[in-house]
Amino acid sequence: ESSPVLTVDGPGGAGKGTISRLVAERLGWHLLDSGALYRLTALAAAWHDVVLDDEDALEPLAANLDVCFLSDGGDARILMEGHDVSQSIRTEQIGDRASQVAALPRVRQALLQRQRDFRQSPGLVADGRDMGTVVFPEATLKIFLTASAEERARRRYLQLRQAGENASLPSLLKEIQLRDARDMQRSVAPLVPAQDAVELDTTHLSISEVVDQLIQRLARIG
Ligand code: C5P
Repeated sequence: ESSPVLTVDGPGGAGKGTISRLVAERLGWHLLDSGALYRLTALAAAWHDVVLDDEDALEPLAANLDVCFLSDGGDARILMEGHDVSQSIRTEQIGDRASQVAALPRVRQALLQRQRDFRQSPGLVADGRDMGTVVFPEATLKIFLTASAEERARRRYLQLRQAGENASLPSLLKEIQLRDARDMQRSVAPLVPAQDAVELDTTHLSISEVVDQLIQRLARIG
């Protein structure tokens, strides 16, 4: 498949999710939220009583996830085993568990082809940690979005509050720092910018400024 791919990698809370969705909407491209696949694996593990260090059991679980992504971008819904899990995979607890299963090489391998299958005409925006380094090494344009840990904690806080969840800013900051460390230090697909990625610090940029920048950069490549 030779459709163009824009990869958007970076740490949690840098705005990847929102920005990727808006860019995909503007371009009419498909969207891959790869973090959702790790979150779904963590949720499936809870449903099927699989413990998070049992790689032998997690590998087939990840390979055989029964999921359905309804509609690209917009008001996307995710169904797993027939249940709407769009909200339940977004909690901090599932995020934390996702980063634990994401450290297992065979789980990552099991999810690889499913991610590549999202690359379809007219194009794909792929949001994650290793989109530019592992999943789509030949991507058209690779972006690495960052923001200070404090700013990311603040954004996550507002997001959770909006979703009606309780949140505490200091504990979110701690969780973000912990998850950054785990994502950067793991031996498989650690969170690092691809050599040919454009790094963009969004600490002082608005969402629409970042979206515009990405669209302009893509347009320049043609
Ligand atoms: O981006 P999101 O918070 O949904 O991702 C949840 C977790 O899944 C991350 O903390 C990370 O450990 C893992 N992940 C990953 N590779 C990706 C996307 C997410 O390891 N491409």
